[in-house]
Amino acid sequence: MAEPLLTVEELSLSYRVEAGLVRVLDGVNLAIAAGEIVGLVGESGCGKSTLGRAILGALPRGGIELHGGAIRFGGRDLMAMAEQEAAQTIRGRAITLIPQDPFTSFNPLFTIGGQIADLARFKCPELTKPQRLARTLELLDAVQLPQPRQILAKYPHEVSGGQRQRLMIAMALLPNPKLIVADEPTTALDVTIQAQILGLLRRLANERGCAVLFTTHDLGAAYEICDSIAVMYAGQNAEAAPVKDFFERPRHPYTTALLASLLDGSGRLQGIPGEVPSLITPPQGCRFNPRCGRALDTCRAHRPAFAGPVGGHRLACHNPSEAGHG
Ligand SMILES: Nc1ncnc2c1ncn2[C@@H]1O[C@H](COP(=O)(O)OP(=O)(O)OP(=O)(O)O)[C@@H](O)[C@H]1O
Ligand SMILES: [Mg+2]
Repeated sequence: MAEPLLTVEELSLSYRVEAGLVRVLDGVNLAIAAGEIVGLVGESGCGKSTLGRAILGALPRGGIELHGGAIRFGGRDLMAMAEQEAAQTIRGRAITLIPQDPFTSFNPLFTIGGQIADLARFKCPELTKPQRLARTLELLDAVQLPQPRQILAKYPHEVSGGQRQRLMIAMALLPNPKLIVADEPTTALDVTIQAQILGLLRRLANERGCAVLFTTHDLGAAYEICDSIAVMYAGQNAEAAPVKDFFERPRHPYTTALLASLLDGSGRLQGIPGEVPSLITPPQGCRFNPRCGRALDTCRAHRPAFAGPVGGHRLACHNPSEAGHG
């Protein structure tokens, strides 16, 4: 595999709440190569958005306890980089966001064109005003918005949800990023529009060589557009593999349970008995052990390392399924 564009290494952090520490990322690892779409999946509350925010440098300012780890991007540790330098070069520049909800992302009082122009002035300071307009029009064309000039003259309520999400993608592309964090970018949209937007993301990643961290609950969508999949469970890595190996040879019992829920037709991460554990008092050993049909004594006592890759898979499990169909 190509040298990673981004690596997250043993990242551990907690939210401070009244009841204690919510141990939301516990030694998490992730690798994204240039131009790669990585699907980040796992049940609600497993820490996907927190990991995305940490990569974007957009964690809440207070109430966070950082226990350790690194986020390396272009050879630099973003966690250790000075705030100002990160803001000028990385955050919102080399790494940008496509938000989940395009409906709340525009100010209703100003035209779309005015808001994009403000953003472009800030994100592309090296361009002149006519260059910024040309770039905006080029990007609206790239996200397949017809009649871009007319769209720029409109107010946010005058365009559809799908069009707004296309605008969000165009805005994320403005500074020519190397990585886009797309946190459930289509959940607020109709199913048919979702498929179009995901197809668009795949095409843009191919054409522009831009990597995407695609956070989703939807394994079916991940299968369609991702190059590789990373599964998190309760703030820890479970399994990561190239997409074909992932779906053909799942090893972690949690992954096989997720895929079973996909195959039962729900297409979503449902139907696994038990509940995601409290992250304030997580289970000892492997955090999945109370729900796992393959748990051994060692799983209750010792946390499995996230080892590999072996046969393309990285895996945190003491007793994985055979490397056949799960
Ligand atoms: N600001 C916060 N303060 C305290 N706890 C938080 C905060 N943000 C998130 N959490 C908790 O951290 C855990 C992980 O949240 P996160 O939003 O990262 O999960 P997620 O995998 O993105 O979930 P979802 O699929 O529902 O979006 C949850 O238990 C959540 O309640
Ligand atoms: Mg989330």
